[in-house]
Amino acid sequence: MSSLLTVYLSIVNAAYAIITIEVSSKFVELDRTNLKISCLVSDNSLNSLDVIQLTREGTNIVSATMDGKVFWQDKMLETRSDCNASLINVLASCLNLTIPKTNVIKGDMGVYRCELSAEKRDSSLYLDKSGEIFINITEKYTKDTNGVSGSTASRSTLREITVLMKDWKNQHLLEIVMRKIC
Ligand SMILES: *[C@@H]1O[C@H](CO)[C@@H](O)[C@H](O)[C@H]1NC(C)=O
Ligand SMILES: *[C@@H]1O[C@H](CO)[C@@H](O)[C@H](O)[C@H]1NC(C)=O
Ligand SMILES: *[C@@H]1O[C@H](CO)[C@@H](O)[C@H](O)[C@H]1NC(C)=O
Repeated sequence: MSSLLTVYLSIVNAAYAIITIEVSSKFVELDRTNLKISCLVSDNSLNSLDVIQLTREGTNIVSATMDGKVFWQDKMLETRSDCNASLINVLASCLNLTIPKTNVIKGDMGVYRCELSAEKRDSSLYLDKSGEIFINITEKYTKDTNGVSGSTASRSTLREITVLMKDWKNQHLLEIVMRKIC
């Protein structure tokens, strides 16, 4: 009877993760979509949180400790993103990573997961992993029927115009470009 109960409880524990992962979008277009990844913890069986760790493809990229301090393992990511964390309240702790759309790169594509190291109410160590989320990064949609939208598109069009401006006599080409913009 009691061993049956133990088996039942361990199945329940395995199915229930205290730390969860949330992303703003699983499909991110370069230059078009901001990317926000959140590790969220809320559980009153915990006494305190030690570390929240975010991983990409099994590699540590950024973590945060109890005092809210952020540690970057991926130094390149540090230069192009923003991370805030709060690990004080066991019912509302998080690590939020935001990569602005203009800083998203193809290398951000992959499987993300959050990991937790915490202390239970009985002072025992508690380790947990969230589920995995695959984030797909795609190129900007190029067959754009509305003409120019998105910063890269307008920048390259501007370059095209600048080149053409040097040749004012070439009205025909200029018209083609103007049609592309409008
Ligand atoms: C983190 O906090 C700073 C100011 O304290 C804010 O400018 C930034 O947008 C925040 N970033 C995230 C990911 O919440
Ligand atoms: C982190 O993101 C969550 C979910 O969007 C939000 O509720 C929380 O206030 C954010 N906290 C920090 C410290 O940025
Ligand atoms: C990413 O999404 C695009 C567009 O939906 C799809 O064609 C591509 O196969 C996806 N890539 C991966 C690695 O899943």
